[in-house]
Amino acid sequence: MRYSEDIIEEVRAKTDIVELISGYVKLQRRGSSYFGLCPFHNEKSPSFSVSPGKQMYYCFGCGAGGNVFTFLMEYENYSFQEALKLLADRAGVKLPEVSYSREAREEADRKALLLEINKEAAKYYYCKLRSPAGEKAMEYLKGRGLRDETIRKFGLGYSDRYNSDLYRYLKSRKYSDEVLRETGLFNADEKKGMYDKFWNRVIYPIMDANSRVIGFGGRVMGDGKPKYLNSPETKIFDKSRNLYGLHAARGSRRKNLIICEGYMDVISMHQAGFTNAVASLGTALTSQQASLLKRYTQEVLVIYDSDEAGIKAALRAIPMLRGAGLSPRVVNLNPHKDPDEFIQAEGKEAFEERLEQAENGFLYEIRMLQRNYDMKDPQGKSDFFHEAAGKLLKFEDEIERNSYLEAVARTYHTEPESLRKLVNRLALGGTGQEARRQQEAPDRKKKEREDGVQKAQKLMLTWMTSYPEILKGLSRYITSRDFVTPFYRRVAEMVEEQYREGQVNPARIISRFEAGEEQNLAASLFHTKLSLESDMEKQTALKDVICNMKESSLNYRLSHLSPEDLAGLQNLMTEKKKLEEFKAAPLPGDLSPA
Ligand code: CTP
Ligand code: MN
Repeated sequence: MRYSEDIIEEVRAKTDIVELISGYVKLQRRGSSYFGLCPFHNEKSPSFSVSPGKQMYYCFGCGAGGNVFTFLMEYENYSFQEALKLLADRAGVKLPEVSYSREAREEADRKALLLEINKEAAKYYYCKLRSPAGEKAMEYLKGRGLRDETIRKFGLGYSDRYNSDLYRYLKSRKYSDEVLRETGLFNADEKKGMYDKFWNRVIYPIMDANSRVIGFGGRVMGDGKPKYLNSPETKIFDKSRNLYGLHAARGSRRKNLIICEGYMDVISMHQAGFTNAVASLGTALTSQQASLLKRYTQEVLVIYDSDEAGIKAALRAIPMLRGAGLSPRVVNLNPHKDPDEFIQAEGKEAFEERLEQAENGFLYEIRMLQRNYDMKDPQGKSDFFHEAAGKLLKFEDEIERNSYLEAVARTYHTEPESLRKLVNRLALGGTGQEARRQQEAPDRKKKEREDGVQKAQKLMLTWMTSYPEILKGLSRYITSRDFVTPFYRRVAEMVEEQYREGQVNPARIISRFEAGEEQNLAASLFHTKLSLESDMEKQTALKDVICNMKESSLNYRLSHLSPEDLAGLQNLMTEKKKLEEFKAAPLPGDLSPA
């Protein structure tokens, strides 16, 4: 499905990016741009800039960048279509009815139908809990300390003792067996036909971040087995990409998110005021879930059960969270098993204290590592420090590494200096690393050269879009043909085309790239930093970038010229001569950036 470029542009042009982003990020004016703390990575001083002139944002820290559409796609996890719809509504633009491809329409309809049935089922369970049939279930939930408002907030329900209760209800609403089967709410049996998956259980609807019911968990009331049954994955239920409780936690004002293991844990914590708790869905934390968390927070408190399985799960989760750019900390619940039990036993003030005392993820890893060594034995102790030094080595940032190194030395009673020596020795390592480095050298040279070529092209695009008035003069020396990277060339062609049509408009160019990554890249192209004050500086810098770029373009073309192409060679020689002249003379007047 596609909207026309014109309508997309109309919506974009009617949306002011500063106004839109101000709703999410506190912005302050600095010169011609606005700056704020980047919502896409953790930072203490603002490197996130929004340019009203270009109608784009860009973070000099993490490289996130784009226009109003990409902002909503990144921040709210919207698809392009969803972002477009929201902004069209906001700007009062009526989107035309679109013609979907048949498959796309069927797929979308199917998902919508499954969501609708899930909602019906959730309502049905919800009402059952409040009917006479649900008395025992209600008693069970109350017995676990849940208040009415909590039960309502999480939409808890009950599935009756009859095993085709829900099935008959949904059939009466005229849903076909075929689609009902796809909901995952029923089992099919040759003899018995279709019957409910959940019966005589307390029901926990599972919602996505936008509060749509995508699946269910059901718990026996008491000690039966299995304790929990869960919906299988369906077209709308991907367990690795959702988190239980996120719809409620995302709006929480607390400074971090809590990740735990269970439905009841999430519910108990919310009831006690810790409305920032979520749980993975009966499986180990996935990297997609870590990225999902990253969308809403910088810091995650890990609260897993305090048994061996819980420790193992935490040790898996920590690197995963760190990999997504989050800072993990681990909460100790001893002597209680899980957050629900802790809060029941000790109350919320004590729980809050435990959250505050949460241990840094790295130090937790080291502490768990230490359990494997006998610290009274000199060999055991030395082995432990070797292992710890290996982990310290992985910090690339020296300040970070040093502060962890000192913390480890302090905690495990050794001199920071001797631990540092160990780390340094490992770094140089008798492992032939020096030899390897030498081997890598030619590759590194090549890579540096490539980086230089990329950088010159990027800078050039920044100049072209910041000072469109130079484009005419520039075309004598640099055209899109000089951009050797296909992606950059495409962008340069678009800039030229816009210039010919009378207006250079980078935000519009970004809309033409669909995938998020390409959009970020395109946005970064227009935002390479040009921190130039005087006209003199500008002229020198522009001249430099033209020379650099032309030179690398000529070299590139020369090395890709076929030996028979004499005309091509002639051409390159002429261009080369022109470049030498350009170098020797002052910058021509029409290339003077205003
Ligand atoms: N789980 C599951 N199937 C099971 C057991 C557990 O899917 N047979 C999942 C559920 O999502 C559950 C989580 O793993 O919430 C953690 O399990 P557990 O600690 O046993 O459950 P609690 O949430 O503590 O449940 P309760 O307090 O009701 O016993
Ligand atoms: Mn529990």
